Amino acid sequence: MSFIIKKNLSLEGKTKKIYTINNPREVVIHYKDSITALDGLKNQLLQDKGILNNEISTLIFKFINLCGIKTHFIRKINNREQLCHKVNIIPLEFVVRNIVAGSMSKRLNIQEGIRLSNPIFEIFYKNDKLKDPFINDHHAVFLGVTSYEELNSIYRIISNVNNILKKYFLDKNIILVDFKVEFGKNHKNEILLSDEISPDTCRFWDRKTMKKLDKDPFRIGLNENEEVLDIYMEILKRLNVR
Ligand code: TMP
Ligand code: ASP
Repeated sequence: MSFIIKKNLSLEGKTKKIYTINNPREVVIHYKDSITALDGLKNQLLQDKGILNNEISTLIFKFINLCGIKTHFIRKINNREQLCHKVNIIPLEFVVRNIVAGSMSKRLNIQEGIRLSNPIFEIFYKNDKLKDPFINDHHAVFLGVTSYEELNSIYRIISNVNNILKKYFLDKNIILVDFKVEFGKNHKNEILLSDEISPDTCRFWDRKTMKKLDKDPFRIGLNENEEVLDIYMEILKRLNVR
């Protein structure tokens, strides 16, 4: 294992920082303690949340890597940081839904909790000024951020990831309601599953009680921060049970 020398902060987002390192094909991703909702309008510090999300995302990406799906994740290097392959992020958020919730429930006025016979895939354009609008394949291709061929590959990957993760979480008594993923391209132009997978980016419901085990309580502001942190700890505890 070679030394990692952090060089420059290359990007700082709402919940993570990305550093360039001595190896130009790799980066260090640092998880901050911020928790945000409503496109950043609600933004708070939640002590140690970054440590929890780093560990949770590490466990999930390790599992996805083991299943043979190509991701940016290489290894966790400390409490808050991961070594990842450097990618150019495709500015699209891919949402996979197994059960109606969140924005789909609001947009279509359909009650949360209805199971979908087939997963629904959605695309959001990552653009802060436009507040990440909901778009379709044709818009994404028109915007020049992807191609139909690339979208086909991505849909194949997210369908695979969904099947793998649904089972992975169900074994831990967690229902994977929906989730969001992002993709990037490495120096060989290969598509790698990137970003993070955590209670920030997924909806998790307890298999028995249907309790929300994700960021939703924070989004709707019902819970105090401590309770939100307890939820993230509960997810980590369940992932650590084999
Ligand atoms: P939505 O129902 O609000 O569209 O969210 C669908 C899923 O995507 C949910 O699991 C939360 C996740 N998500 C993100 O990770 N980032 C975002 O900015 C949004 C809006 C949703
Ligand atoms: N887009 C939201 C934010 O501002 C994230 C979310 O609700 O998941 O952080």
